[in-house]
Amino acid sequence: MVGVAVNQRNITQPEQIALVKQEFNSITAENDMKPGVIHPKEGVWNWENADKIANFCRQNGIKLRGHNLLWHSQMADWMFYDNKKNLVKKEVLFKRMREHIHAVVNRYKDVIYCWDVVNEAIKDGPARPAFMGGGQDQPLRESTIFKICGNDEFIRKAFEYAREADPNALLFYNDYNECDPAKRDRIYNMVKEMKAAGVPIDGIGMQGHYNIYGPSEEDIEAAISKYEEIVDHIHITELDIRVNQEMGGQLRFSRNEGAVVTNDQKLLQEKKYSELFRVLRRHKAKVDCVTFWNLCDADSWVGVNNYPLPFDKDLKPKNVHTVLTHFDPAIDTQVIKEDFQPCATCQPRQQYPQVNSQGFVRFRVVAPDAKYVICSAGHGGGMGGTVLKKQKDGSWMGTTLVPEDEGFHYYTVSIDGAQVLDPGTNSYYGGSRWQSGTEVPAHDGAFYAERTDIEHGNVQKILFPSKVNGDQLRPAYVYTPAGYGKNPKQRYPVLYLQHGWGENETSWPVQGKANLIMDNLIAEGKALPFIVVMTYGMTNDIVFGQGFNRNKLADDFQKVLVDELIPYVDSHFLTKADKKNRAMAGLSMGGMETHAITLARPETFGSWGILSGGMYTPEEVKDKKVDYIFISCGSKEGPDRIRKAVDDLKAAGYNAESYISEGTAHEFLTWRRSLYQMAQKLFKK
Ligand code: XIL
Repeated sequence: MVGVAVNQRNITQPEQIALVKQEFNSITAENDMKPGVIHPKEGVWNWENADKIANFCRQNGIKLRGHNLLWHSQMADWMFYDNKKNLVKKEVLFKRMREHIHAVVNRYKDVIYCWDVVNEAIKDGPARPAFMGGGQDQPLRESTIFKICGNDEFIRKAFEYAREADPNALLFYNDYNECDPAKRDRIYNMVKEMKAAGVPIDGIGMQGHYNIYGPSEEDIEAAISKYEEIVDHIHITELDIRVNQEMGGQLRFSRNEGAVVTNDQKLLQEKKYSELFRVLRRHKAKVDCVTFWNLCDADSWVGVNNYPLPFDKDLKPKNVHTVLTHFDPAIDTQVIKEDFQPCATCQPRQQYPQVNSQGFVRFRVVAPDAKYVICSAGHGGGMGGTVLKKQKDGSWMGTTLVPEDEGFHYYTVSIDGAQVLDPGTNSYYGGSRWQSGTEVPAHDGAFYAERTDIEHGNVQKILFPSKVNGDQLRPAYVYTPAGYGKNPKQRYPVLYLQHGWGENETSWPVQGKANLIMDNLIAEGKALPFIVVMTYGMTNDIVFGQGFNRNKLADDFQKVLVDELIPYVDSHFLTKADKKNRAMAGLSMGGMETHAITLARPETFGSWGILSGGMYTPEEVKDKKVDYIFISCGSKEGPDRIRKAVDDLKAAGYNAESYISEGTAHEFLTWRRSLYQMAQKLFKK
């Protein structure tokens, strides 16, 4: 069952009623059934709001949890005193308790199926230190009730009275900080001992007032495992996960006024929620009900700025809601093989990140004083990102929730919000900055393997003069095949190969492995030897949100490429300087540039390639005298439109081919494979 604590608005305003009915099948009254609220003075009863909640449940067939019959806070304090304001004898207290419990339990017997009989009677704090002999101190909260009784008799009595009043209701002991090992043991010891003595306790309520940093998965699991030994029902009774570092049920806390919830905090919260629910699913035999403490952030007792619930202040579901409702059950039981090896992207002698034979990636970052560490790669709670866990040695470690696709992936590390590179890996330009990278070995990775049994070409950096947007030198990497220049009479075709948005001239030669792909193809006689020129496509001059002028970009870059770089390359390298022997291709935004520039300057390029960056239509290509068109993408990128575009081109009589990279998305393995396919076809006609 999934429950929600409700106030009066939640059950009277149509929009909120609809949400409650759609999302929840159990309700708890947030305040309206507490002793101090329902029974403020001897003989005075405020039934009205409690009745409304009970009727709402009756009418809508929603289960009702009773909360609560005895608590140190929001208590019917009059029960503790006589008319001279002196504490009463425990016999008087017990009589009043019994009358109260009987009245409330009887009134809602037909609809309330379980009661938090006693709330928060155990004290907080660590176990007794070793120098004082260790073990547990007096375990009870030193409340007024405790003072009247001097022992736990009031707890036993409350359960007995509740059982008398309703033999069918499930009776719970409910508390917060219930995963803290010291408090957990106090709760465990008390319930165990009472049950042995015949006190009718059916379940333990774990309030679940958590935060994005804790309690840890291990502590939650350990608490549930202990409680499971002694009761058959465990309810998470008051779940919320704050974005600050406080937890528990105390009424003094920071409401985070004025604070902005960061994306990191959102991810940490998604991770905490999803990790918690994975634990709960493992224990579903005894965990019957999870109740969120309030309907949405605007209702939350810890304040809207603590962002604690699956529904935001406007009742809209957050990503947390998706994480909790659209989880993959296979993940709960998956077994991760412990055959991790350092990634190929690791710097020399660095051991992390690592990858295993299934494609899981494991990160390790040393940051002993950090509050949190997140790697933006892989999947953690819900969306992208893997939240690392602090280890005893001060390092932080974490494994992706699911395997990564084969091939290369960029990531950065957030250490307390500072976006830094993982010192374990080499750096790769992407996202308009240097990033870290993981590499999951591809089953077909031999085509870019570093082979010692073949001749290799060269990649050299050139600087060419440019007048577009001011006088300057622009960079390009030029791949020349093995043996280039040995025979000055031998001239080569040229492929101008573009990177995507956020990348630069280093992306194809480094993460793209363009030179290795060419070396291997040429050595095996699968591709003609040709030159590959990889320059900066000016893509990062675009700032998102400030208007993306595709035409201006293509215009500027067209001048740089066609009017400046090509003449420079043709005059400095042994090129075949004609249309037939010149190709342009690009990935993603580089594909869009290719599209625009090849169509605008058809006299320059004979072969055209678009990799995950769009397509050509027969109308566009008409009269442009193109020799060869190559269009590709990953199978996870909606490949049907690519296939269709190529079918249309073929039907119109063009020499076009499509290629779909199996099992990959908008990422470099798609483009490495695409280059491998395309290079075999270029300049052969
Ligand atoms: C809270 C309510 O949400 C608040 O509106 C009220 O002011 C104080 O109590 N542990 C419990 C709940 O068992 O009853 C408390 O509810 C939160 C902590």
